Amino acid sequence: MKSETSVRIVLIGAGNLGRRFAQVITDKHDDLLKRYALDVRIVGIADSRGTAIDAAGIDGNAIAAIKSAGGSVCDVPKVGHRGMTGLQLIDAVEADILCEASPVDLDRDAEPAISHLRRAMEKGMHVSTPNKGPIVLAYRELSALAQQQGVQLQFDGTVAGGLPAISLAARDLRGATIERIESVPNLTTGFILDRLTEGAAWNVALEDARAAGALEGDGIWDLDGWDAAAKIAILAQTVLGQDVDIYDVPRKGIRDIDREWLKAASRKGLVRLLASAIRQSDGSYQLDVAPVILPHEHPLGQLTSQQMGISIETDLFGTITSVITEETPLPSAASMLRDLLAIYVEN
Ligand SMILES: NC(=O)c1ccc[n+]([C@@H]2O[C@H](COP(=O)([O-])OP(=O)(O)OC[C@H]3O[C@@H](n4cnc5c(N)ncnc54)[C@H](OP(=O)(O)O)[C@@H]3O)[C@@H](O)[C@H]2O)c1
Repeated sequence: MKSETSVRIVLIGAGNLGRRFAQVITDKHDDLLKRYALDVRIVGIADSRGTAIDAAGIDGNAIAAIKSAGGSVCDVPKVGHRGMTGLQLIDAVEADILCEASPVDLDRDAEPAISHLRRAMEKGMHVSTPNKGPIVLAYRELSALAQQQGVQLQFDGTVAGGLPAISLAARDLRGATIERIESVPNLTTGFILDRLTEGAAWNVALEDARAAGALEGDGIWDLDGWDAAAKIAILAQTVLGQDVDIYDVPRKGIRDIDREWLKAASRKGLVRLLASAIRQSDGSYQLDVAPVILPHEHPLGQLTSQQMGISIETDLFGTITSVITEETPLPSAASMLRDLLAIYVEN
């Protein structure tokens, strides 16, 4: 019988994704042990107010209950540490992998996430993150550090939530030349475009998106196309081998979308904010983010408001399209489990 491998997780962030991931790890513990001989536990967790540390494993369902009630992970009886930071947690705890799910912040050089990732890898830990910031701004540096330290840097949740976009493009299409990537990589803009197409006023569409949990804060990140630009920049750097500065990606969001154009366009197909990369004759890729009409026969032309997708045209495998229906953040949260299994389970 295969001997068990212990996988000790430090989790930073206990928001939409972090708390759900904590629950997944608790709920799947016995299954992961049985199927993969992996004894996976969260031994340290941080949010903005503090940490909890327990080498025996932290109950993800207790964390979810505390967070849903407005509390902090440091409120966990006996094991909570108010005021302890994520960096201090990484230093204090013996663990095998960091799962980093703090907020994306490109304005502050992807902090605090990037420091968490660096510190964990310097300590010899693998890292998984759905946080786009560090990958957009410092993929080369971080992947070099991972290589130098003999650890893995995984980030499948950074593009299109729970859809395995990076794995598909980087692993399953190996050997092929990618001619074109077209992606509808977020739910927010699709939701709003569909409401506008139905005739809703801009403010009403925004309020509906907010009520549905699809829009947060002032919406600049999504409405002005930054989120889509970050995702195509990640695909370009990590899959297509092209260095990209996100600020150089041609980017048109949906904030100023012409309502007359939208009305006419929606008769011809589905309007979506598309992030694309098209191979040029010199082998480089032209990136673009803009609202476009996807004819109904297009591989992504039938998406609903709750779906994201990616379509990849290659020389060897034809065009491969993958679509995810993401009604809650669970699939995005579970991308960290996919990352973990990519590290610990042989294909
Ligand atoms: N939501 C999605 O569907 C989705 C999909 C794919 C990728 N992502 C990415 O995944 C990451 C997490 O997203 P989310 O929706 O879970 O965000 P969120 O709900 O805002 O949660 C962020 C968590 O990080 C904690 N945090 C903030 N600053 C921190 C700090 N300095 N040190 C330690 N913890 C800190 C917050 O603490 P408090 O709880 O105390 O505020 C919160 O628990 C983001 O980078 C996001 O872009 C999200």
